[in-house]
Amino acid sequence: MAEATEEAVREALAGVEDPDFGADVVTLGFIHDLSVNNGQVRFTFGPDTPLCPSREAVAERCREAATGVDGVTEVEMHAEARIQAHQVQQGVQLMEGVKNVVAVASGKGGVGKSTVAVNLALGLARCGAEVGILDADIYGPSIPRMLGISGKPSSQDGKTLEPKEAFGVRAMSIGFLIDEETPMVWRGPMVIQALEQLLGDTNWGELDYLIVDMPPGTGDTQLTLSQKVPLTGSVVVSTPQEIALLDARRGYQMFQKVGVPTLGIVENMAHFICPECGHETGVFSEGGGEKFAADYDVPLLGSIPLDPSIREQSDSGHPTVVADPDSRQAETYLAVASAMTVEIAKRGQDQSQQFPNISIQAD
Ligand SMILES: Nc1ncnc2c1ncn2[C@@H]1O[C@H](COP(=O)(O)OP(=O)(O)OP(=O)(O)O)[C@@H](O)[C@H]1O
Ligand SMILES: [Mg+2]
Repeated sequence: MAEATEEAVREALAGVEDPDFGADVVTLGFIHDLSVNNGQVRFTFGPDTPLCPSREAVAERCREAATGVDGVTEVEMHAEARIQAHQVQQGVQLMEGVKNVVAVASGKGGVGKSTVAVNLALGLARCGAEVGILDADIYGPSIPRMLGISGKPSSQDGKTLEPKEAFGVRAMSIGFLIDEETPMVWRGPMVIQALEQLLGDTNWGELDYLIVDMPPGTGDTQLTLSQKVPLTGSVVVSTPQEIALLDARRGYQMFQKVGVPTLGIVENMAHFICPECGHETGVFSEGGGEKFAADYDVPLLGSIPLDPSIREQSDSGHPTVVADPDSRQAETYLAVASAMTVEIAKRGQDQSQQFPNISIQAD
């Protein structure tokens, strides 16, 4: 039998395409530390995404491809996420330790933005990522209720705040700090200052993804936030009606204006699933999300059905992804999370932290 060479194994791995990226794993830089000795192959499968089910399937195909090479007797594959920090708006610095920040936004209120944001965060955590969620919805903070957490955050040094934790996700909310009546009287600049502090003064630790649940709409406050918060990208949530999609377009355009890419759109309450019989029916006009995605050349990350159990679960502090992890709905949220990480991985990496030791000395 011919002896297996590193070249032959690399070639076999180059035949494994990751369908989400439309490229092979070698070109994508997912294969690390490949070695071949006396028929024993060792390598690390290290994608720039968490190990969600779709990526794990690719990892398995890599193992099979290596096993199939002539002369290979043993394959030792180690799979680990190697999530990188990606570019943010020009002139804005990423926070230390926080690799990617994603704003979940909507053109109008009540479309299910917070429900998507929280299930997205839980989905990422379930795939093994380090995840935080910042509730920036000063007008109606809902993350504490959805994650079943409350009370003032603690501080170890009197300067920074410790995030609260639920289901493996670190959370900070303006709702922890103020009573519900207060924010209505706050003016724009106060809101922005409060949120900048909340973002910057929280001890997030090391995060792969920080999800920011934005206040609904596209007014001055939202615009300023999208300029000041270091954002890798945005996810726009919309219901499928014409009018909601019109608002979603405004959301997309707001992010365009400040140089933040829209990673994709999530269509919520797209169709109704009958709790009695499980039958699916359209509620609003269908295909709106797809049309939006096509018009603006942004991916449709997923379509979430209108399902009363989604509301019941998040109202009770156990959102769908943790309340009913094997349900079709949880799978859809997980697919949205996975698709979002793929879109992030396709973006350019952050260069500013590549040379952390270089600083300009001032006399
Ligand atoms: N797919 C869904 N099926 C059924 N109910 C849903 C779904 N998504 C969200 N809801 C419910 O709709 C209501 C509004 O959702 P949510 O609070 O997430 O919207 P929002 O866009 O964040 O609203 P706001 O603009 O007030 O912040 C909530 O009661 C939520 O539980
Ligand atoms: Mg909300």
